[in-house]
Amino acid sequence: DLRYSADGPHQAGILTPVQRHACYLAGDVTTDREGLRRLLDTLTARIRALTAGGPVGDDGLVRTAADNGILGDDLPTAGLTITVSVGASLFDRRFGLAPRRPARLVPMPAFADDALDPAWCGGDLLVQVCADEPDVVVHAVRDLLRATRGDLQVRWRRDGFTSPPRPSGTPRNLLGFKDGTANPDVSDDALMDRLVWTHGGGGEPDWVEGGSYHVVRLIRMFVEFWDRVSVREQNAIFGRDKSSGAPLTGTDEFDPPDYTGQSGGGAIRLDAHIRRASRSGTAPDQRILRRGFNYDAGLDAAGNLDMGLIFTCFNADLERQFTAIQRRLEGEALSDYVSPFGGGFYFALPGLGSGEGGWARAVL
Ligand code: HEM
Repeated sequence: DLRYSADGPHQAGILTPVQRHACYLAGDVTTDREGLRRLLDTLTARIRALTAGGPVGDDGLVRTAADNGILGDDLPTAGLTITVSVGASLFDRRFGLAPRRPARLVPMPAFADDALDPAWCGGDLLVQVCADEPDVVVHAVRDLLRATRGDLQVRWRRDGFTSPPRPSGTPRNLLGFKDGTANPDVSDDALMDRLVWTHGGGGEPDWVEGGSYHVVRLIRMFVEFWDRVSVREQNAIFGRDKSSGAPLTGTDEFDPPDYTGQSGGGAIRLDAHIRRASRSGTAPDQRILRRGFNYDAGLDAAGNLDMGLIFTCFNADLERQFTAIQRRLEGEALSDYVSPFGGGFYFALPGLGSGEGGWARAVL
């Protein structure tokens, strides 16, 4: 049974290898400053308990069962991670937290190709629950919502999943392409320090040390439309080969793309997704760590398949990394086949440290 500790300098669920199932929950804090302290302490305690697993104990909830019971009496962890992030709205006037706001945390703006629905955007808190078994995710979600009832009102929820590598390499998204190939190496600590972890100083409050800006974009895919497009055109839209994941200028998934050609031949089109997204040659600190999940939400009102990508990424500086990339993607060839409708900008809190205290002390 795979177990990730909730303690340490950084939260789990960021560099952690992507699990098979996920639930994203965004909620608003419905209490006062003291209530927020209680909420953060409750989250701290429940996350420590849930990610440790083991026999269900008496957790102090009186007269009702200590646990919802859907996993039996001995809790498996199945690689469970629960990652808590805060939205810019938490730092408005309600809690007196304006001076504590992570300096780069702003509400997510609408980008050029977006069709944002306010019901699917924002939230004071974002909770990302991931595990390799779907019932472990559901169990944790029910436990967390029960424990925070009265202090947290859920605003939106979206569940996701990833596929095992087919046949090898990186998992595929629902357009059929391997997704995550060019991610930075999470085992390189110095690189993660530059690209992922936020540091105090330089305008940031000290408490942000070890956290990370967390972007969520809920992106619908028009899959019926996509499935009628030739594979040749699909390859050109991404700049990679659908089957192998190789750049169109190479043969192997991990070959570096060659962007010297302008068009035609084996060149990667100027409006191809990877060509617009990448600046690793000229601006190496502009890279992001993507950690996305597919979603399948049944049908829309017109009977079309409602599926897409829960795009998520982590970065040390929103403006320098995510936003710079997103602006370059405006008008890319892919934009006719996808539609971002929700999500938000959040800040993943620093890790819980070494077993005492919790987030209330850091944030408040
Ligand atoms: C690369 C899919 C949205 C940033 C890729 C690749 C695929 C892909 C298949 C190539 C393989 C890889 O390196 O992972 C998609 C789909 C999207 C989407 C289907 C929407 C539905 C976004 C967004 C961003 C983004 C919103 C950021 C603003 C990147 C980056 C790369 C990449 C930085 C790596 C480029 C490189 O350095 O080669 N994406 N993506 N993608 N994508 Fe996306």
